[in-house]
Amino acid sequence: MSTARAHLDPRSEISIIDRRIFGGFVEHLGRHIYDGIFEPGHPSADAEGFRTDVIELVKELGVSTIRYPGGNFVSGYRWEDGIGPVDRRPRRLDLAWHATETNAVGLHEFQSWLDKVGSELMLAVNLGTRGTQEALDLLEYSNTSVRTALTDERAANGRSEPFGVKVWCLGNEMDGWWQLGHRNASDYGKLASRTAKGMRQLDPSIQLVVCGSSARSMPTFGAWEREVLEHTFDDVDFISCHAYYQERDGDAQEFLASAVDMQKFIESVVATADAVAAARKSDKRIMISFDEWNVWYLSRWEEQAVTYGPDEWPVAPRQLEDQYHVLDAVVFGDLLVTLLQHSDRVRSASLAQLVNVIAPIMTEPGGPTWRQTTFFPFSITSRLAGAQAVRLEVDSPAFPSSRFGQVSSVNAVATTDDAGVSVFLVNRSQDAAVPVEIDLSSVAPGLAVVESHLLADDDIYAANTLEHPERVVPTASDARVEGRALRVTLPAVSWAAIRLE
Ligand code: AHR
Repeated sequence: MSTARAHLDPRSEISIIDRRIFGGFVEHLGRHIYDGIFEPGHPSADAEGFRTDVIELVKELGVSTIRYPGGNFVSGYRWEDGIGPVDRRPRRLDLAWHATETNAVGLHEFQSWLDKVGSELMLAVNLGTRGTQEALDLLEYSNTSVRTALTDERAANGRSEPFGVKVWCLGNEMDGWWQLGHRNASDYGKLASRTAKGMRQLDPSIQLVVCGSSARSMPTFGAWEREVLEHTFDDVDFISCHAYYQERDGDAQEFLASAVDMQKFIESVVATADAVAAARKSDKRIMISFDEWNVWYLSRWEEQAVTYGPDEWPVAPRQLEDQYHVLDAVVFGDLLVTLLQHSDRVRSASLAQLVNVIAPIMTEPGGPTWRQTTFFPFSITSRLAGAQAVRLEVDSPAFPSSRFGQVSSVNAVATTDDAGVSVFLVNRSQDAAVPVEIDLSSVAPGLAVVESHLLADDDIYAANTLEHPERVVPTASDARVEGRALRVTLPAVSWAAIRLE
């Protein structure tokens, strides 16, 4: 077993970490809202119908901002359907997911839920079937304190104070053929620019996210970012990235290299944004909002997708309810390491999604809630990550990947703060445990391990289920400080977090 080595030097700071990197995403999709976070009649439901057991788990997950209400859903959504007396709200067909939307939960209810979980709202506007005026109306309704017809309506709906939403997404995945109102880069770029300019006239304090590509594999990737930013460079703060990964053809080793794709994705978008800036002789830096990322068995969903009859539009059907195993959680933890490694440009990210739908938290109607394997890397990283991200260049054994050549088995990042250091590591090798030694001679002496967490299992396909909700939980690792070195053994296919104080 050859040892992987790194030197932790706090001067190799990547960036101050923007806590919005630990964001989430809630879409009106499947059992996410209905029979997920909202289940009046459930034994744990509060007076508003929100499950308090789910609220507790979302708090434990440690989610900073939450992007809402979609996703593909937003591209056909009329936000006005979700306000006013619930019994007068219209039922609508959701074309994105072939379901009936009851609108029992809308902006006010969702904000109330966010207040309970302690997260901040990030809103997406519909630039699919709607346009600038409807986005302006929603912004005025949400953020304006001046008396207008719309703010009077907001007050009549129980909220005299503005919601004060800071970050707004200009549509969703507009490069995707599946998206309602899908456009080419030029048409979308012009619409996004017009809408952004109007929104800033109304509220100059907001931050805006323009749609980048819905995957690095999209045929328009790169050209889309360039052309969209040529139209919107002066109007926006962020460009979005979306990425989902899954094991394909039983090739776990290749799946374990997924974070390399995320790394290349981020670096390409940064290069493209900076090239647009250079051509304009601008010092402005467009940041990345990685506002959908996760493991998602998309091909399984596409193969199994139920075909409904013309009159079948179910309410809250079971959709995209992936069950995550240990291997998924290790890849997931590696994606989080990669986001932190790029925290100088990734200033916002949203785990897609939170409850039931490709989610770290599962619920059963009338029954319990439980943590999927992916819950642990997120909750532990968001809790232990300090103020600054610090580079950890690991000299590690490597394995061959058909897509990326030689890939380092061990990937890692550190964070620092006044009280100590946190280290997040992953062993992507399927074949061997790797001993890791991190030289601490550049940090203050006397640090000791105060917490260590390890996610690994002899069965990399072990998962938590309704019947066995705690089959997979993190254990303590053998992390210890010896002299001026931190040592830990990473079993094959493992994720670990260590806190030193
Ligand atoms: O998260 C599920 C879906 O994935 C979202 O609705 C869409 O934006 C993406 O394609």
